[in-house]
Amino acid sequence: MVRIAIIGCGYWGPNLLRNLWTIPDCEVRTACDSKPERLEHMARLYAGIRTTTDVGDVIDDPEIDAVVVATPVHSHFGIAKNLIKAGKHTFVEKPLAASTAEAAELVRLSEEQNVVLMVGHTFVYSPPVRRMKELIDSGTIGEVLYISSRRLNLGLFQTDINVAWDLGPHDISIILYLLGSEPCTVSCQGVDHFNTGIEDVTTMSLVFPRGEFVSIQNSWLDPRKIREMTIVGTEKMIVYDDTEPIEKVRIYDKHVCVPPHYDTYAEFHFSYHYGDIAIPYIQMVEPLKVEAQHFLDCISGGTTCMSSGREGLRVVEILERTTESLRADGALISLNAGVSREEEVRV
Ligand SMILES: NC(=O)c1ccc[n+]([C@@H]2O[C@H](COP(=O)([O-])OP(=O)(O)OC[C@H]3O[C@@H](n4cnc5c(N)ncnc54)[C@H](O)[C@@H]3O)[C@@H](O)[C@H]2O)c1
Repeated sequence: MVRIAIIGCGYWGPNLLRNLWTIPDCEVRTACDSKPERLEHMARLYAGIRTTTDVGDVIDDPEIDAVVVATPVHSHFGIAKNLIKAGKHTFVEKPLAASTAEAAELVRLSEEQNVVLMVGHTFVYSPPVRRMKELIDSGTIGEVLYISSRRLNLGLFQTDINVAWDLGPHDISIILYLLGSEPCTVSCQGVDHFNTGIEDVTTMSLVFPRGEFVSIQNSWLDPRKIREMTIVGTEKMIVYDDTEPIEKVRIYDKHVCVPPHYDTYAEFHFSYHYGDIAIPYIQMVEPLKVEAQHFLDCISGGTTCMSSGREGLRVVEILERTTESLRADGALISLNAGVSREEEVRV
């Protein structure tokens, strides 16, 4: 039985708590939030849960084995560092930390303390994303040429991070998972319409080692909620619409046919293959439930973490480079990585 505490019971924390509460192998003992009214609400929903406004109570409690941190990004490092030092398995919401240096330090500490450090890259636990990974890995769509991802809505405006740091971790973590590699270059442009220095609309481009081109658009300033990813392969194309209730993934049997040989420009013609559209049946499970169970499985040593601290570090490093690019009017920034994920990131 894993004894758990949750720190941060604002908008997102309660979703994690709800899922953890239903898992038999764990007991959620404590809810912590600096706002007493949030704790009163949690105590009304979850009979017997202990509450505290002081993170120190969680850190010092020997009866807590693992902690979920769902506080704003700027506080992740300070809270997670002390939890890990106290020997607690730690789950931190995305993005892992506010800088590469902080994220790398958390990874280093967790490895030194031999505790699980997991990040809330929720979508790698989502059945449609896993199905797309199978389709790519099996060669069904051929080689991936490009991916375009749009995550747009009206609000919620954040005050400490821009929209790339808020919504982008989802797109980036999905794409790193799907491609199994890291980008060589990043560029990003954006506009801060309302809060100086906090962009509410951003567009980033990533280029991967096999030439895959990825564009990610994030916005808090769009009339519609859009969660759409298009993956174009040499043989087939996938459209993933996460706002669809059931049929989230469509596979288009479409591609461009390049003539095998031609002597003159007049002979050169592309042709286009138009085939069927397939909608695979995907058994839906709440990704958060899978994610919460995975955290427990990692603690019991039964599995390798799919969104480990190192995955969190990779995403934070890309986000940090996007900020660098934003501040340099969209300049192309090289990442040291550009390597397959099997290779180690030095921390
Ligand atoms: N995985 C997802 O899909 C997803 C979705 C939304 C948010 N998030 C992440 O969840 C985290 C929290 O976001 P949110 O929207 O719930 O924020 P929020 O501001 O609504 O809630 C944060 C809560 O943390 C509390 N808090 C802040 N500092 C604290 C401290 N030092 N000690 C104790 N309590 C403290 C606040 O009082 C607040 O209740 C962020 O990292 C965000 O990126 C993830």
